[in-house]
Amino acid sequence: MGNQVTVAIIGGSGKMGRWFANFLLKDGYEVVITGRNEKKLLEAKRQLGVEVTTNNIEAVKKAKAILISVPIDNFEEVMEQICPYTHPEQVIIDITSIKAFPVEIMHKHIKTGLVLGVHPMFGPGARDIANQSFILTPTNEEERALAQKIRKYLETRGARVTLMSPDEHDEMMGVILGLSHFIAIVSADTLLSFDKLKQMRAIGGSTFKLLLTLAEGVISEDPEFYTSLQMNLPNIAEIEKLFQRRAKTWADLVENKDREKFAQRMNALKNRLNEVNPDFGKAYEDMYKLVEGL
Ligand SMILES: NC(=O)c1ccc[n+]([C@@H]2O[C@H](COP(=O)([O-])OP(=O)(O)OC[C@H]3O[C@@H](n4cnc5c(N)ncnc54)[C@H](OP(=O)(O)O)[C@@H]3O)[C@@H](O)[C@H]2O)c1
Repeated sequence: MGNQVTVAIIGGSGKMGRWFANFLLKDGYEVVITGRNEKKLLEAKRQLGVEVTTNNIEAVKKAKAILISVPIDNFEEVMEQICPYTHPEQVIIDITSIKAFPVEIMHKHIKTGLVLGVHPMFGPGARDIANQSFILTPTNEEERALAQKIRKYLETRGARVTLMSPDEHDEMMGVILGLSHFIAIVSADTLLSFDKLKQMRAIGGSTFKLLLTLAEGVISEDPEFYTSLQMNLPNIAEIEKLFQRRAKTWADLVENKDREKFAQRMNALKNRLNEVNPDFGKAYEDMYKLVEGL
């Protein structure tokens, strides 16, 4: 991508769309954003000084690059709407948090123009692009060539970039996003079953503070987004069933007062985590520092 290129951000009035509009404007691009709600669009226009329209087709027609930043549940309707208006020299990039389904939908509908699945691994609160991680999911030679160009563009600006297949991405996101969010939501639900949570909050140590921060962090976010991830991550049901089986195993050891097996299993986990992370030994210290910084 070179400067003075017009980028259309479909869903640009949303949280991530505004983030990318702000970033691209500062990087010298012309940006036009779309959304359905006019009030939200005008607010974005006031905030960012960006061109706005409720007409996706009008935005697509004038753009060299198109960024799709709509919720996964609206993805196919947007693709169906814009596909007759894309042209061969355009690039169409989706930034949804799931990759196999949107990439498949783009291949199905976009007959002219080059597509690429991208997942920015950060939320709209990110201050800067430096040190942020992006996953790019090209599926053929043309897309791999585009991914290399985009990788260079992002890395020059300090971002970290990883390439993988859409399926590999989704498999990992089931754990990275799906399981982490699930544990946070169930933890919040469990913690709120105790009436003295307010007092516990005041006196709790590092581990408890970290758990509470995780639970509060996820619950404070947009429920629509978290619901959409839980409903759309392809392998999430299996992962959550595994979590439930593991929770039962540990709870049974506690219920049966099986001290020996509990400690044995914990030691076995210690050894295995050590293999995954050579710095594992100082993890408790790291957690303490993290909580002190909160
Ligand atoms: N939030 C995150 O932390 C995060 C991180 C990485 C990636 N993502 C991905 O980024 C995408 C956007 O997420 P978000 O958090 O920015 O969601 P959001 O705040 O709900 O924004 C979504 C935007 O899409 C617009 N939209 C929906 N249907 C549309 C249509 N048919 N035509 C035009 N605009 C339409 C909405 O506009 P109206 O309100 O006017 O309908 C809204 O402005 C999602 O796919 C998500 O998976 C999110």
